[in-house]
Amino acid sequence: MQVAIIGTGYVGLTTGVCLAWLGHEVRCLDTDASKIDCLTRGECPIYEPHLSEMMAEVKTRLNFTTSYAEAIPEADVVFVAVGTPPSPDGSPDLKYLRAAAQSAGKHLGENFTVVVNKSTVPIGSGNWVESLIRESFATHRGIKPDGRFAIASNPEFLREGAALHDTLYADRIVVGADSSRALEVLYTLYRPLLEQSFSTPSYLPRPDGLGAVPMVATDLASAELIKYAANAFLALKISYINEIGQLAEKVGADVTLVAKGIGLDTRIGTRFLQAGLGWGGSCFGKDTAALISTASDYGLGMPIVTAAREVNRRQRERVVEKLLAELKILNGKTIGLLGLAFKPHTDDLRDAPSLEIAKALATRGCKVLAHDPVAMDRARREFPDVDIHYCATGEDVAHEADALILVTDWPQYQTLDWAVMAQQMKAHGNAGTRLRILLDGRNFLDARRMEMTGFRLVRVTG
Ligand SMILES: NC(=O)c1ccc[n+]([C@@H]2O[C@H](COP(=O)([O-])OP(=O)(O)OC[C@H]3O[C@@H](n4cnc5c(N)ncnc54)[C@H](O)[C@@H]3O)[C@@H](O)[C@H]2O)c1
Repeated sequence: MQVAIIGTGYVGLTTGVCLAWLGHEVRCLDTDASKIDCLTRGECPIYEPHLSEMMAEVKTRLNFTTSYAEAIPEADVVFVAVGTPPSPDGSPDLKYLRAAAQSAGKHLGENFTVVVNKSTVPIGSGNWVESLIRESFATHRGIKPDGRFAIASNPEFLREGAALHDTLYADRIVVGADSSRALEVLYTLYRPLLEQSFSTPSYLPRPDGLGAVPMVATDLASAELIKYAANAFLALKISYINEIGQLAEKVGADVTLVAKGIGLDTRIGTRFLQAGLGWGGSCFGKDTAALISTASDYGLGMPIVTAAREVNRRQRERVVEKLLAELKILNGKTIGLLGLAFKPHTDDLRDAPSLEIAKALATRGCKVLAHDPVAMDRARREFPDVDIHYCATGEDVAHEADALILVTDWPQYQTLDWAVMAQQMKAHGNAGTRLRILLDGRNFLDARRMEMTGFRLVRVTG
């Protein structure tokens, strides 16, 4: 099938590459000309494991353009995957979605086209996008677009860092549409994924036991709500374990053992039960705020989701409080941050706790050293106002540092030369017990091992 993808970010590019892998002809469109230039040269503008590799392998079926006139008219399916960032009041800013819908409407071709919303959008947006497309088409062509297009919602559930895996081996594909013809087109598009009948990339083998992927067909509003409800649930799972972690700390329990003990109950599950600094990234904060904002339009409060957000906000403050308790005075101290990305295996810094912590420490007079395996260039480029001294290696953040904070649980941080790092750091404490302070923001490091290497390991939670 002929597919156009509007918006070539984390979601749009992954979707485009995976659909090309399945054999479809894909045109990826973005208004950011520098991004399209980069992609046209065969370079990948984001860090996502195996994405460059797969892009190269499907290049005969994958094109990049800034032109709606080139991408839209021939397409059987048009995906909209533009950003929907939060406005100051928590509701999503829909200006990119509006622009994309109007441009798509202007360029609709003669064939029946399904316009699929993959961006995370407030409930009711499907109908709004439909009216924008309809108006735009009528304005530019002077006729009504009756029968030429239908709208669908296909929320995205990929995790950055595992985006290709999650797209090819999804837990489910949710498609909302009020048109049965649109549902049929999307069923045909996704058939190789649903039936798992495609040949797998060597670097991403099919998980053992994965048979068919279920497709959940719904109306538009239900598909839109499924996305928000899923993200809010995951966010509150993280906040729940962080709340339990605070109690664990008081009563002398180990929250990682508590999480294991409850998570092995199959009704609960072990995932998203890792206590620590809390969530970040482009979705959970924005989507929980949007859910609360939508509910308030209908006179509803969302007390559980609101509490989850508050617990998460407090987790970031706790880092600075814990550091203060250890060092007493922060002014003039040097603090090393291990990790900047909001989670490992991505370079995404949106709502990353690292940046908030770096700002809070700089405001209190600290010198902040930081390292990240892939996100440092992006941090320099996108956050020039955050006062960070970037280090070439993880070990370098320990140089003359008064304390270290492990912010992102990159696997390679397990094997840093911790003994050398301890030697480079300043020690704190009483004459008899002078130790190097290490705050583990992800409950990631082995406390005994770190203590034997000369660190005092402090957890942010539990
Ligand atoms: N990133 C994730 O992990 C994730 C997961 C699930 C859902 N989502 C949702 O998917 C959507 C996209 O997220 P993302 O992280 O890929 O965003 P992104 O910011 O990485 O990419 C969006 C792209 O859209 C482009 N764009 C903006 N306006 C445009 C227009 N009018 N025409 C063409 N291109 C335009 C931008 O230049 C940008 O490249 C958001 O609604 C987000 O909430 C994201």
